[in-house]
Amino acid sequence: MSGFVPPPYPQDRLKPLAEICETHDGGMVNLSIGAPYVPPPASLMKLLDDPTAAMKYPPSIGSQEFRNAAAQWLTNLGASDLDAEGIAASVGSKEFVASLPGFLKLRTPDKSTILYPGVSYPTYEMGAQLGSCKPVAVATDELGRMDLASIAQKDIDDALCIWVNTPNNPTGALEDLQAVVEWGRANGILVVSDECYIEFTWEQDAETILKYGNDNLLAVHSLSKRSNFAGLRSGFYAGDRELVHYLSEVRKHGGLMQSGPVQAASVGAFSDNGHVVEQRAMYQSNLEKLIDVLGSIGVQAEMPGGGFYLWVKAATGTDWDFAEHLATELGVLGIPGSLYGEAGAGHIRLAAVVTPDQIGLLETRAS
Ligand SMILES: Cc1ncc(COP(=O)(O)O)c(C=O)c1O
Repeated sequence: MSGFVPPPYPQDRLKPLAEICETHDGGMVNLSIGAPYVPPPASLMKLLDDPTAAMKYPPSIGSQEFRNAAAQWLTNLGASDLDAEGIAASVGSKEFVASLPGFLKLRTPDKSTILYPGVSYPTYEMGAQLGSCKPVAVATDELGRMDLASIAQKDIDDALCIWVNTPNNPTGALEDLQAVVEWGRANGILVVSDECYIEFTWEQDAETILKYGNDNLLAVHSLSKRSNFAGLRSGFYAGDRELVHYLSEVRKHGGLMQSGPVQAASVGAFSDNGHVVEQRAMYQSNLEKLIDVLGSIGVQAEMPGGGFYLWVKAATGTDWDFAEHLATELGVLGIPGSLYGEAGAGHIRLAAVVTPDQIGLLETRAS
């Protein structure tokens, strides 16, 4: 076969490490996936019980109520000129990240390059490949921000978009959004900002790229992290009205629809902040406790600027060696940093998705 062959999925490559973790009394503490571990509030789950919404084909672009609620929520977070016209629904955000490059290329067939942070969520690169585009990783500086000056002119000339992700998965770094917007506008390049961790910042307030207007900008959002809706698949994209309209039309032809009951429950989720305040406090406390557990086995870790991952420098050997060390010492499954790009080698990512019982287990193992 000479065509595209999907690489092994990152989590599938962790099986040998998982087997080591499972040898511990009490089993593995799986910190490899940023998956919610607390169900969404019952008040939001009730909204799913909507037979009419279940019966009807849902609007691919999202119901008026869904788009109004999303617009209001992002305006509260600083979007400067957003209304329902500038918003469309997605089925969670991963499918949007993975499909955007192909749709941008359909719109502008003479360009192919997709720029994305050198240490980042792997779907930016995969989306470029799935869309027959050219993925180009942008070097990051010591603060984890993209070094925009390092991008080659030929890649700038051929770029369909540049991805930015703040807070960054996996590093927790906070990007200088204004600098990326200015760079994008100076070069006439669409900036797409993946903001699914926007409410999980620990040093400063969250920022959306739509604070800087809508022109040639897109923000991508998800309820997977904010409201623990990962299993319901709710997200949206917003910003440049002409582009949102184009994408929503193409996606409608492709049958991409967020389910009606999920749209109804999402309206409730966007309108409620209480559950997010609680979830934030849990992640913050988990991050602090994990830092302490690691400290007691001599591993130094720091609070990230945002997000709910620890990006831990390998204390011994390669990132894979270090992941094995943590599996052996603590029964903890983390992700070797090289799975987030070559520049990530030398680190591992630990998701602070632990229950109080698991924290107790880790404290015992570390003592
Ligand atoms: C940076 C980033 N973007 C997008 C996603 C996709 O999330 P979802 O498809 O659940 O909205 C994730 C999931 O972990 C992520 O870390």
